[in-house]
Amino acid sequence: MALPDWSPIHALAPQTLKSLFEADAGRVDALSADVAGIHFDWSKTHLTADAVAAFSSIAEAMGLAAKRDALFGGQAINVTESRPAEHSAERGEGAPESVARARGFQARMRALIDAIEAEALGPIRHVLHIGIGGSALGPDLLVDALGRYADRYEVAVVSNVDGLALEAAMDRFDPAATLLVIASKTFTTTETILNAESALAWMSEAGVGDPYGQVIALTAAPDKAVEWGVDETRVLPFAESVGGRYSLWSSIGFPAALALGWDAFEELLEGAAEMDRHFRLMEASQNAPVLAAFADLYYTQARGCETRATFAYDERLRLLPSYLQQLEMESNGKSVTSDGEPVTWPTAPITWGGVGTDAQHAVFQLLHQGTHLVPVEFVGVIEAGDSLAEAHHRQLLLNLLAQGAALMAGKGQDDPARAYPGDRPSSTLLLDRLDARTLGALLAFYEQRTFVNAVLLGINPFDQFGVELGKEMARAAESGGLEFDPSTTDLIRRAFP
Ligand code: F6P
Repeated sequence: MALPDWSPIHALAPQTLKSLFEADAGRVDALSADVAGIHFDWSKTHLTADAVAAFSSIAEAMGLAAKRDALFGGQAINVTESRPAEHSAERGEGAPESVARARGFQARMRALIDAIEAEALGPIRHVLHIGIGGSALGPDLLVDALGRYADRYEVAVVSNVDGLALEAAMDRFDPAATLLVIASKTFTTTETILNAESALAWMSEAGVGDPYGQVIALTAAPDKAVEWGVDETRVLPFAESVGGRYSLWSSIGFPAALALGWDAFEELLEGAAEMDRHFRLMEASQNAPVLAAFADLYYTQARGCETRATFAYDERLRLLPSYLQQLEMESNGKSVTSDGEPVTWPTAPITWGGVGTDAQHAVFQLLHQGTHLVPVEFVGVIEAGDSLAEAHHRQLLLNLLAQGAALMAGKGQDDPARAYPGDRPSSTLLLDRLDARTLGALLAFYEQRTFVNAVLLGINPFDQFGVELGKEMARAAESGGLEFDPSTTDLIRRAFP
């Protein structure tokens, strides 16, 4: 396999953002794109035409176009697990047989939603969605972002095995009116199974006659769900080739489809499909996921940045940073190539972030004056979601824009403690509005950007073996079947006196 040669990137002459703007009046246009209701602006990054050309050559050497075709064509792009990565097929962009299978699963999902709406499972008002990682973060984000005014069903997403999380949801809900949704691709995840068992016990103890009658499962392992006790008519399968952190488009998105309505779910898929088509067809210099990945790679490879931060200036997107953490770090936090060779270049930076303007009063000190260079991404929505928009939304967006400008401009002062070095990069994403279609496009953009990063880094973004060892050791600790190091042995003794 080809290995990335970063020398053309290392050879790029360092230039300040100020000088780049002075040298090129067309910089904003050259480094902006408009796709599916989202305006992207990378002009406040250090990307230049030379950098884009150099990255385009690396992309060519690493076979980006062929790998993109393989991704959409349903080939076994996930080489370590010998299977395709078919999340795009869920939104209609993939191999015809994969798209047809996804449509079939979606028809089942829609029929079950119709039945629930018709009260075939009783007078359901509450949805207790139990899942973790990719089986929680996506649906939670969708419902939280789009469901503020959707009052048909109240949804709680419980992921943590800490009983406090489950109790908080059970305290709010009436067991007789609760739909218990168990979301697990593998249907073996210990946290999810324990939470599901406790929720089922809560329903039984409250006198629900047939608690299993109010349970549905979202899984790529339907046999295991049936074995657990879910009636097979209420198992909503999805394909094994859809990765957990890429699964919100599949039946894992069920709580969003139920709470927001089927039309909204379809809009979400259509928005994502529009981004997919843009990614497939647009040349590199105007391709949003590709340009975003080039900027990411510039900062990790040329400037040694170890983190990247996303700040959503919209309460509706407050869960976006956590969702991105799994997407980006579980996908690209690797240290071997797709061929298993050790990498000698940095892979994914640490993804972190928060919500503006809150974060300005907490972590922005480091962004403006700290010793770490952190590329920042601002995400804002032009159309307000609140009724106080005149005063509040204007302030919110002005703050977003001012922060990007301040990071770049800096400010000289006689007193060094009060000086801002400036020349700190940021990219800005402005959504026309936050609806299902635009959110679908935004999330597909992040997925495809993660993929482009992986291809240029020479790694496989679709496995996650790094999460297994800790799980194995927890299981071994439970059964007493493992001799731990002295520190852990001591801690176990203290935790379980
Ligand atoms: O432990 C990590 C992980 O495997 C994620 O990749 C996945 O999204 C999550 O656990 C949940 O897995 P499952 O959907 O199989 O319960």
